[in-house]
Amino acid sequence: MSFKLTREQEMIRLMAKEFAKKELEPYAHKMDKEGKFPEAVVKKMGSLGFMGMMVPYEYGGTGAGAVSYSLALQEIAYSCASTAVTMSVANLSTEPLLKFGNEEQKEKYLTPLASGEKLGAFAITEPGAGSDPGSMTVRAERKGSYYLLNGTKIFITHGNYADVINLVAKTNPEKGNKGLSAFIVEKGMSGFSVGKSEDKMGLRASNTVELILEDCKVPKENLLGSEGLGFKIAMTALDSGRIGIASQSVGIARACLDEATKYAKERKQFGKTISSFQAIQWMIADMATQIEAAYLLTLSAAEMKDSGLAFTREASMAKLFASETANNVAYKALQVHGGYGYIKEFKIERLYRDARATTIYEGTSEVQRIVIARETLKD
Ligand code: CAA
Repeated sequence: MSFKLTREQEMIRLMAKEFAKKELEPYAHKMDKEGKFPEAVVKKMGSLGFMGMMVPYEYGGTGAGAVSYSLALQEIAYSCASTAVTMSVANLSTEPLLKFGNEEQKEKYLTPLASGEKLGAFAITEPGAGSDPGSMTVRAERKGSYYLLNGTKIFITHGNYADVINLVAKTNPEKGNKGLSAFIVEKGMSGFSVGKSEDKMGLRASNTVELILEDCKVPKENLLGSEGLGFKIAMTALDSGRIGIASQSVGIARACLDEATKYAKERKQFGKTISSFQAIQWMIADMATQIEAAYLLTLSAAEMKDSGLAFTREASMAKLFASETANNVAYKALQVHGGYGYIKEFKIERLYRDARATTIYEGTSEVQRIVIARETLKD
């Protein structure tokens, strides 16, 4: 892996940075306060190619690749972590279609998602199936030319705004993980509705909802791959998704560090700026070092994906380390702010809440350790 970005990667990073500074940063505080999903900005990001960065040009994407995607996502997260999770899940939702879709499915669903014409979501989680998707109960029964889906999915990112949802359901309850199948569900299909919106601690400008399936009629043509492939499809998509959450975490952590250094250079106590105290300097040094390590792990996983190598273990390492780093750094950065850090007026208060989700979704830190240990022992 080269440590130097290519000209194209650097240009994409700068473009994302400029976009985020202009379109997200000035509104992030207000959006968080109001808990409002920025529909117009998300649409604009789609038309600029931010939602199909790992999809080839022929299917409506930019073909920029995982490294460029990670760099762009870091910049978006730096300015607004909520919008970053929207972008991450939208890109994740293209993966099952790209890897397992047939030509008709790609044309009908992948192209509009990757080009930003439509927004995609990903649904596996249920009230009783979080870390263990194999225990899901949403049922899909074949009835001639269609499947009937019944049950409830929860914690679905931007489920209220998505046009297309990659949804995993059980076709064969006796077979555990091997009894799951993946479906392309469209908003508006009969029997599909959106349930309650979650009132979250952080990432408040991202939308998180319940999806309700009541005899939801999905044409058999919308089965991805074949019956029984659902678990594999979900895991493959999550490998890429974890690079996204690692990138989001790096962006949040950088924003925390910048807030902490800015504050430390302004705040005076005992007649000096607090940045002149070693206690603060050591916190800054630890934060900067951890962020650099998280950045390199994340780009290394992305580079492996771009090179066509297996990257399951590296994506989990990046997700584990970067999300734990975002939380450690947010904790220290708030500590540097003292009492002011606890006040909503200060940006660090939002960053601290936003960071918290990163060690939980798309596989908790504990799940990442399972993946890393299994892959390492296998080697
Ligand atoms: N790629 C391809 N195939 C994979 C795979 C991968 N990364 N991981 C596992 N598989 C395959 C295995 O090879 C195995 O296949 P065979 O049976 O043919 O050998 C099969 O899948 C079963 O694998 P495991 O035995 O490892 O399955 P498990 O039940 O022990 O689960 C787990 C392993 C790592 C805990 C997995 O269940 C997991 O990742 N859980 C976390 C789920 C998760 O991340 N949920 C997040 C929800 S989405 C979200 O948060 C999105 C959002 O909106 C932000």
